[in-house]
Amino acid sequence: MFESEKPGKQGILTVHDAARLSVAPMMDWTDRHCRVFHRVLSRRALLYTEMVTAPAVIHGDRARLLGHDESEHPVALQLGGSDPKELAEATRIAAGFGYDEINLNVGCPSDRVQSGCFGAVLMQRPELVADCAAAMISESPVEVTVKCRIGVDDQIPEEVLPDFLEKVSAAGVRRFTIHARKAWLQGLSPKENRDIPPLDYPLVVRMKREFPQLDLSINGGITSLDQVQGFQAQGLDGVMLGRAAYHDPGGVLIEADRRIWGDDRRISRHDAVEAMRPYIVRHLQAGGRLHQITRHMLGLFHGQPGARGWRRVLSERAHAPDAGLDVLDAALAQVGGQAAA
Ligand SMILES: Cc1cc2nc3c(=O)[nH]c(=O)nc-3n(C[C@H](O)[C@H](O)[C@H](O)COP(=O)(O)O)c2cc1C
Repeated sequence: MFESEKPGKQGILTVHDAARLSVAPMMDWTDRHCRVFHRVLSRRALLYTEMVTAPAVIHGDRARLLGHDESEHPVALQLGGSDPKELAEATRIAAGFGYDEINLNVGCPSDRVQSGCFGAVLMQRPELVADCAAAMISESPVEVTVKCRIGVDDQIPEEVLPDFLEKVSAAGVRRFTIHARKAWLQGLSPKENRDIPPLDYPLVVRMKREFPQLDLSINGGITSLDQVQGFQAQGLDGVMLGRAAYHDPGGVLIEADRRIWGDDRRISRHDAVEAMRPYIVRHLQAGGRLHQITRHMLGLFHGQPGARGWRRVLSERAHAPDAGLDVLDAALAQVGGQAAA
């Protein structure tokens, strides 16, 4: 059995199945608290960590960088790097932490990442990416996947993307997530690089036709489950949501299990807050701050009556060193109550 087809930790579904909808790796956003919250909203979507660089895993505080809550599964670790030996070492270390998938970042355009020669700049070096992937696979008990762009700078995506998929899949990678725009390595900030280079969804759809044996997920600018289903109808295996899942988690993740997997479970926004309570209590008891968790929950009531009050109370009061559940209750009062709906 292919590794990704083995049942995931929760025994609910395989990673392959979970990847029908995933929440993107987002630095500073998809930390462990965010992932626990997203998992409350969707039992099924695949959740990605923020990128962690291979040298950080090797030399840094592993428990802090790689530790996660059991409830997060299925969860994928994203690594950054371009040295096969380092990536193999980081994969070996990470394997002990029980992730369901390990992903290599070939899409991030930030300066810091470029100077270390990893992230999107690796679109120019598919052979090196293949070597990195092979090294990771040799150390990984779980599936190794790649997240990439359609090209960088003056590359011609129609030429480089198939070449990239061919070379990297020859090293054993079967699942890719493609952010359907180029990264421009000079002159754009990372944020601009997520908006300005034009999206080319049809190219990614064509790649699935050209490489039917690969699992391809599409990413970039997708904001609704209607769009997700539209891409699946076009043959893509999965869709990855980044900013939409973060800013409007109630809008996209709550409905996801029913619409994408046909699950009949449905949780309300208020239920989700209640479900977070025990986790928040444990965090506070361990000396953590309320805002470290609630900052990821600000968008929960997006578009609902009282959403602004919810955001305001949490933004203004959750930072206080002694902020506790009373602040959460005050925020809930803004959106019509504090008991589970
Ligand atoms: C705040 C932020 C941080 C990000 N950090 C990463 C990262 O660590 N690794 C990565 O591969 N992509 C990163 N991305 C890119 C996202 O994974 C995703 O590819 C991009 O936001 C496009 O998807 P979207 O339009 O659905 O947001 C980041 C995006 C944002 C907004």
